[in-house]
Amino acid sequence: MTKYIIETDQIALRELTMADFDAWHQILSDKETMQYYPREFDEDQTRKWINWNLDNYSKYGFGLWAVILKKTNEFIGDCGITMQNIYRDGNLFPEIGYHINKRFWNKGYASQASKACLEYVFKNTDFNEVFSYQNSTNIPSRKVAEKMGMSLREEYPDQINIKTSVYSITRTEFLQLPYAFHNKR
Ligand SMILES: CC(C)(COP(=O)(O)OP(=O)(O)OC[C@H]1O[C@@H](n2cnc3c(N)ncnc32)[C@H](O)[C@@H]1OP(=O)(O)O)[C@@H](O)C(=O)NCCC(=O)NCCS
Repeated sequence: MTKYIIETDQIALRELTMADFDAWHQILSDKETMQYYPREFDEDQTRKWINWNLDNYSKYGFGLWAVILKKTNEFIGDCGITMQNIYRDGNLFPEIGYHINKRFWNKGYASQASKACLEYVFKNTDFNEVFSYQNSTNIPSRKVAEKMGMSLREEYPDQINIKTSVYSITRTEFLQLPYAFHNKR
């Protein structure tokens, strides 16, 4: 019986395993999906990504989790929490990240999963602020950050001279949101 970490009406989140490699590589090797990354992933990078998350689970108790569509039991992407050097000053902050198979885009799944992850952080850790950052031209990703209730805090030029947008939400702001602590788990 699969152990889910979080469940919402339509999706469930569980830890990634190497058994997810094929479904996961299909997403990370797709050019359109990876258009905001330096390039799409080869098999070695996908394997490293899974291993990085296995390490995250043991180090922090969280990481990027597999997103499972409950009605079909399909693996449709990842969503979760990683520690990121948001301001490039060496300090690590919790960040909600997400990648969804493009066959399932614009159905609200990333928003649903990321809201549940945000709740998870405020319920299970002492962090007082949670981030989401992305290439400023990544409109779908920015929309998901906004739908979680985050606000744009800062923009700075990234390595390839395109802006990175930094969104965040504080614990106090989160507690005022109508969806706070309403998901099943
Ligand atoms: C970002 C991503 C995970 C969003 O997944 P999703 O399940 O489609 O997200 P949702 O359906 O919850 O929300 C997407 C929102 O973006 C909007 N959107 C999508 N494309 C858009 C566009 N070109 N212009 C304006 N809005 C757009 C959708 O309409 C939706 O907003 P709405 O609910 O207000 O209508 C998905 O696009 C993806 O996997 N992208 C590639 C990986 C990536 O870049 N991840 C982020 C790395 S920082």
